[in-house]
Amino acid sequence: MFNLEGKRAFVTGGSSGIGYAVATAYAERGVRVVIADIADASHAAAKIGASYVHCDVSDEDSVAGALRAASDLLEGLLDIVVLNAGVGDVGPELKDTDQALIEKVTKINYWGVVYGLKHAGAVMNDGASIISTSSMAAFINVPGAAIYSASKKAVVSLTEMAALELGNRSIRVNCVCPGYTDTAMGSAEEGRAICEAFTALGRPATVDDMSGVYVFLAADASRYMTGQALKVDGGWSCGPTSALLERITGSATAPG
Ligand SMILES: NC(=O)c1ccc[n+]([C@@H]2O[C@H](COP(=O)([O-])OP(=O)(O)OC[C@H]3O[C@@H](n4cnc5c(N)ncnc54)[C@H](O)[C@@H]3O)[C@@H](O)[C@H]2O)c1
Repeated sequence: MFNLEGKRAFVTGGSSGIGYAVATAYAERGVRVVIADIADASHAAAKIGASYVHCDVSDEDSVAGALRAASDLLEGLLDIVVLNAGVGDVGPELKDTDQALIEKVTKINYWGVVYGLKHAGAVMNDGASIISTSSMAAFINVPGAAIYSASKKAVVSLTEMAALELGNRSIRVNCVCPGYTDTAMGSAEEGRAICEAFTALGRPATVDDMSGVYVFLAADASRYMTGQALKVDGGWSCGPTSALLERITGSATAPG
């Protein structure tokens, strides 16, 4: 059910963080992987026996070209496409957010997934799996993160729409919504403090806490799942923790 041997995968944003952990987890399971990233990942890819193609996800031609190049490199249609590239820029309140941040986050996080979903089908096998990276920020808002949260909510919506449109080819489309994960995007120190208070599990995620979910969504084990957003957030979205309640009210349980 979890066998991925011999499959072909394309992972955007695969040069670091969650994307690299996913590419590594696939490669370890016998998947032939192409990493697509704006940053040169030739060396990182070679280390895990993968290949690298340049791709700027905010540019439609670049995304379509990278998907075709991956299929050519791997000599066949793709079985797994992971649309994971993203930026985590946050700013002041919405009224003071500058246009450059709005455009950057929207183009990479939202349009990047639009272009991936638009062009992936042409180079994928029927029965394949597309997995995008959204965020728990799609469900829980934090002041200053309006554009980021909206871009990640858009990924959930696009996932549902693409699942409907590609279902007739048995291509499944799902997204992962990570909680605070220790990568270049955020400092471990901030993440730990926030997660100790806000998550049931009391800690930030590591990239390896994420990669297993991408293995599951690529594998036959999830074959009847499509159009879903999986929250992998240590329980952040469940509600306030006992520790947080105690800090605010002095009692670890709901006020009677
Ligand atoms: N780290 C977290 O706490 C967290 C939480 C929720 C969601 N996410 C999401 O996870 C995904 C991966 O982020 P990460 O935490 O691994 O951060 P990261 O910075 O390590 O990885 C992001 C990757 O995207 C690439 N990238 C950026 N702009 C690009 C572009 N225009 N074209 C192609 N590639 C581009 C970067 O080069 C990098 O390899 C992102 O979509 C992010 O929004 C991260």
